[in-house]
Amino acid sequence: MKASEYDAHATVSSSATCDVQEHAWAVSEPVPSPELSIIVPTYNERDNVVELVRKLDQCLAGVSWEVIFVDDDSSDGTLERIRTLSRGDRRVRLIQRIGRRGLSSACVEGMLASTAPYLAVIDGDLQHDERLLPRMLSLLKQGDLDIVVGSRYVAHGSLGEWDKSRAAISRLATKLSRLVIPADLTDPMSGFFMLRREVLADRVRKLSTIGFKILLDLFASSPRKLNFKELPYQFRNRHAGESKLDSVAGWDYVMLLLDKLIGHIVPVRFVAFAIVGGMGVLIHLLVLSALFEWLKRPFVESQAVATYVAMTFNFTINNLLTYRDRRLAGWRWLRGWISFTLVCSIGALANVGIASYLYQRDTGWIPAAIAGILVGVVWNYAVTRTYTWSKEGK
Ligand code: GDD
Ligand code: MN
Repeated sequence: MKASEYDAHATVSSSATCDVQEHAWAVSEPVPSPELSIIVPTYNERDNVVELVRKLDQCLAGVSWEVIFVDDDSSDGTLERIRTLSRGDRRVRLIQRIGRRGLSSACVEGMLASTAPYLAVIDGDLQHDERLLPRMLSLLKQGDLDIVVGSRYVAHGSLGEWDKSRAAISRLATKLSRLVIPADLTDPMSGFFMLRREVLADRVRKLSTIGFKILLDLFASSPRKLNFKELPYQFRNRHAGESKLDSVAGWDYVMLLLDKLIGHIVPVRFVAFAIVGGMGVLIHLLVLSALFEWLKRPFVESQAVATYVAMTFNFTINNLLTYRDRRLAGWRWLRGWISFTLVCSIGALANVGIASYLYQRDTGWIPAAIAGILVGVVWNYAVTRTYTWSKEGK
């Protein structure tokens, strides 16, 4: 449509007085989008979302804001709560992701779904102090800063009621983060911050979006040093519900650091797959020696059984760790296991074939087995990456 045609439309209604050219067609006054989008990753936070929106509303008087919940298909009724809120308040938006998990990737998707010039990230369980938001915004608006971070480690900030062991783990993680980010950021583990949109745009394609440390990811993916300021806050107790950080969150963190360190050379998922493969080799050799050495079974039979045991082990661990963000559960787990087994049977055949070929030609049993395993691992990775743990989550 040409501009003149828009104009013709505009004369239809007397309220079409918008002087922004793109809106010349509008028959009613356009409602500008907010200047601040607050991204809230949620997973089973039913009893927290209403209170969070109430608190945001309270502290953001005079600011044009919206909140974007990014929910990974919670099963506790969080989605319904957010939808109800949203029906009565257009400032409340929702993105529902299906078949995927991950705090960092949820935050990035939320930020990308917004057009606001200022973006904040805050937890959905009220542990972060939302009252910092207006200050963060006014600091960013002054123009010199790229990002303002809520910190528990600057003066007047605190961990709240964390027990000693959790505090120690957090401190260790912070120390390790120095491998990839500058030393002057006191709380790179923080999940509470606000940034200018351009800062995201400059590095969004470099982000790893692994696990739950999105702030660290942003800093470590920076082509230039970020101008930042930290504001103190006291980490509060969870309002309701339970923490989502499980015992393998540490694995995600190491993967994030590895991706930042060597991700440009080799995909970190392959590294993870290889590590799991290494554990699989140990299992394989254990089963093989039990059958072949102790039970005196024929080598080919022992190698074949060891291969299938290791294959099932690898599937289980890769599903738990390597593909944590696309983890298969219930029927999809079973289907994944079947597909993994079927697809990898070809790899296993090659594995047993090569191993027994070498063994029969006087290669020692360990090198023969390892050669077979190597062929199997490369095949398994290449095929299952797209087939068993497909991105579409089908
Ligand atoms: N969409 C989505 N997907 N949200 C998630 C997921 C997920 O897989 N896992 C957790 N969340 C949401 C939670 O619902 C909550 O709103 C927020 O992310 C933080 O999760 P918690 O389970 O409450 O984590 P925490 O309190 O242990 O950790 C927080 O404190 C850390 C400070 O060390 C997080 O804010 C971390 O980012 C922060 O670093
Ligand atoms: Mn929390």
